[in-house]
Amino acid sequence: MTAPEDQPPVVVPTPLAIAAREASRIAVLTGAGMSAESGIATFRDARTGLWKDFDPQDLASPEGWSADSDLVWGWYRWRAELVRRSEPNAGHVALARWQKQAHVDIATQNVDDLHERAGARVLSHVHGSLFEPYCSDCGTRAAFDDTGDVPAEADQRVPPPECPLCGGLIRPGAVWFGESLPEDAWAAAENAVRNADLVLVVGTSGVVYPFAGLPAIARSAGATVVEINPVDTEVSDMADHRWRTTAAVGLPALVAQL
Ligand code: OAD
Repeated sequence: MTAPEDQPPVVVPTPLAIAAREASRIAVLTGAGMSAESGIATFRDARTGLWKDFDPQDLASPEGWSADSDLVWGWYRWRAELVRRSEPNAGHVALARWQKQAHVDIATQNVDDLHERAGARVLSHVHGSLFEPYCSDCGTRAAFDDTGDVPAEADQRVPPPECPLCGGLIRPGAVWFGESLPEDAWAAAENAVRNADLVLVVGTSGVVYPFAGLPAIARSAGATVVEINPVDTEVSDMADHRWRTTAAVGLPALVAQL
């Protein structure tokens, strides 16, 4: 075992350190890798990713919902419980701290609430939220109900509750493949990157559009774009700087040197 003081200090790449100190408006775009060190699996990691065991069409599409709503509801209920039992990591905490010192807009693809539980304000949840289910028929928002049996396994079927107003099935509050993003959430995210002078792209593989188009929008609007991710991604080429580190290692070091 190594004591924390024995760990080598994290060195922030100089161009990023300077850009972070000089920026007056920062936008941070986050994906599943942001929450990986909180114990929430990403989607596309070859060993642990959620899409290794499941077909996204079955769990994250209107067709999947029509075919087997109990499977879909059980999976999202299982994930919500996993998130509820997890804690924000040092990267989430660092972003919350940065927001106290500077204008930092966070737009996330994540449907968890770990940014908020770290004390950060999220400008935009572009793919919705695990904790904001709504009626699949009349659209009325439903309270997230954390009572009742929690599925022990990801593939355990749980019948969705019924809407008290119309009797329709309550569906998860995540945006699915084939659905439009909530207009306000998308407009806010796009506006944030257009107006930022520094855009950090943290923990996303950059394969799901339109979110994956935001780094290019930022770049063409004149922002410095920095990727924080342990590996190359589909949006690495859009970045002015690529920092091969993790969210919970890189972000605290970056914010500490401001
Ligand atoms: P992915 O699973 O596609 O990508 C996660 C990224 O995080 C990868 O590039 C990893 O290298 C990186 N990563 C892993 N651990 C990390 C760490 N500790 N720190 C930083 N980066 C790390 O997840 P997303 O890009 O978020 O949509 O996926 C986009 C969308 O696809 C999701 O919102 C979801 C999914 O299907 C829907 O369900 C509609």
